[in-house]
Amino acid sequence: MIPVARPTLGKEEIKNIEKICKTGWLGMGSLVFEFENVLKKMFGRKHAICVNTGTAAIHIALAASGIGRGDEVIVPSLTFAGTIQPILSCGARPVFCDIELEDLNLSMDHLKRLLTKKTKAILPVHYGGVPCNMDLILRIARKDGLRVIEDAAHAFGSEYKNRLIGSFGDIACFSFDPIKTISCGEGGAVVLDDDECAQKITKMRILGIDKDTWNRYHQKRSWLYEVQMEGYRYHMSNINAAIGLAQIKKFKVFKKRRQDIAKFYDKELSRLKHIRILRHDLESTVPFNYTILADKRDLLMHFLKTKGIVTAINYIPNHIQPFFRRKRVALPNTDFAYNRIIGIPLYSSLSINEARFVVGSIKEFYKR
Ligand SMILES: Cc1ncc(COP(=O)(O)O)c(C=O)c1O
Repeated sequence: MIPVARPTLGKEEIKNIEKICKTGWLGMGSLVFEFENVLKKMFGRKHAICVNTGTAAIHIALAASGIGRGDEVIVPSLTFAGTIQPILSCGARPVFCDIELEDLNLSMDHLKRLLTKKTKAILPVHYGGVPCNMDLILRIARKDGLRVIEDAAHAFGSEYKNRLIGSFGDIACFSFDPIKTISCGEGGAVVLDDDECAQKITKMRILGIDKDTWNRYHQKRSWLYEVQMEGYRYHMSNINAAIGLAQIKKFKVFKKRRQDIAKFYDKELSRLKHIRILRHDLESTVPFNYTILADKRDLLMHFLKTKGIVTAINYIPNHIQPFFRRKRVALPNTDFAYNRIIGIPLYSSLSINEARFVVGSIKEFYKR
């Protein structure tokens, strides 16, 4: 079987986990502090706060930005539930925005039409690692005093106009789940410059408790703690940070592998009549997945499965999920894409021979 995605792990991750097991400090501790410092440096940000999932990162980024009951957050429908649920957790309402078919990112025209007095934030998703039109999103947001909270779960290492996603803008949220470009096993991070917001996020991730973070970073637990605000048990563990620290050292290799495989797919698939490839600049984008729009998608998926190739549909749009579909919204491009999207295998350890087999199998399907 060729999976659609998988983590690329080695002896460095095992060594780091072994080391941390020997210290006996498995929870949040010095390795989380170390991982945050690496992220801060990479993104040139004042703050990088690590949490246990990307979903948690988005939740506390929204909550610390003051998003709450009665507020509207503009977000694409074509995204993982982990983008949407945090909006609900804050008591706010997701307002689903359509996408462009070239890259499956937010449609700027539709976004402008969705703005109301209740809009408090825009939550763009950099689909597949390809940056959204951040200049325009930030300009719209500045004009109306909105917060921009980027779901950068797919975009670790991608660049927008020579700047790393996460290195500019209000707040960016990353995921380090098992199949992301770099993984912590499970994990996430919020990166930002705003001191006040960062202070809230730091407390919120550990049950609203003050001071505990610093003590834990130094492998001490303070029993005299103060709960100062509403908070969650979202902090990252040393075990997850140990994996992340090993993975981030390999990032450049992962990036090149992913770009090379995506370039190979582009070259091989761009000329096929029944397939539409997405727009991406593979010099500046680190592709998280390789999604194409394909005719006879379901039959193709089934055919590839018989060949031992696993594919994915990223994602079932949220506006048609049972929880949301009572309130019908028209998202023609999202609906069009949903019927055609198929993600084919992409991960750093996928060999070119395996990628060639995937391409050959797709060609075989359409020749039949
Ligand atoms: C676009 C997007 N947003 C958010 C998330 C949530 O991240 P996590 O799984 O780390 O909670 C994911 C995870 O797959 C994702 O793909």
